Amino acid sequence: MGVVGRFGPAGAVSSPWLWFASRAGGVVALILLTSVVVLGAVTAADRPLPTASAGWVAGLHRYLTVGLAVLLVVHIGAAVIDTYVDLAWRSIFLPLTAGYRRTWVAVGTVALDAVLIVGITSWLRPRLSHRVWRSLHWASYAAAAAAVVHALTMASADQPGFRAITIACGAAMVTAVVWRVCSRSPDRRRRAAAAAGEWA
Ligand code: HEM
Repeated sequence: MGVVGRFGPAGAVSSPWLWFASRAGGVVALILLTSVVVLGAVTAADRPLPTASAGWVAGLHRYLTVGLAVLLVVHIGAAVIDTYVDLAWRSIFLPLTAGYRRTWVAVGTVALDAVLIVGITSWLRPRLSHRVWRSLHWASYAAAAAAVVHALTMASADQPGFRAITIACGAAMVTAVVWRVCSRSPDRRRRAAAAAGEWA
């Protein structure tokens, strides 16, 4: 397979560039997901941040989520377009439907579905009760765990640097969860500042 790619007679498309794009997109998406989860935990915990910093942290949390969406489109889109691996479009959202490494791709699909639940319900937050929004927001921790397992199991080259990034992301998210769980009731002023933030 050459670097310029291969376009087969039945519409098959395969190129190392798609593979590079998918891998790079996946790694950056994992770093962004980690940043979003850590910032979310900082926003929700009761540590004494000044109100201005809380608004800044909450804003960064939202903007990085938009970046995460873009990188996930690159990562998953490149993987599905590349016919070198057997992935149907439905495998993006439906677990256990991929022809390629079914189980570990399914774990990535679960991570994506959880990210979508959290993203869509946050966008609809003004129309949802706080209790519903908050319950569904816990899915971010499921997304974090699934994304780390998917990244560890799907890494297609034995590169210690990439594995170290994945382990560091997992460690950062575990620390954030412990921080969040160990915090008492959240600071109402900071929560109000975070809730007042707009998406766009
Ligand atoms: C939150 C969601 C996801 C994240 C954060 C994520 C992240 C990653 C990461 C970090 C890797 C390892 C890259 C490497 O070191 O080589 C990877 C590999 C891979 N992922 Fe995902 N992924 C997600 C969802 C998905 C979904 C939904 C699919 C397909 C339906 C998918 C398909 C793949 C494939 C095929 C690989 C192997 C790439 C290759 O080596 O060619 N991922 N992913």
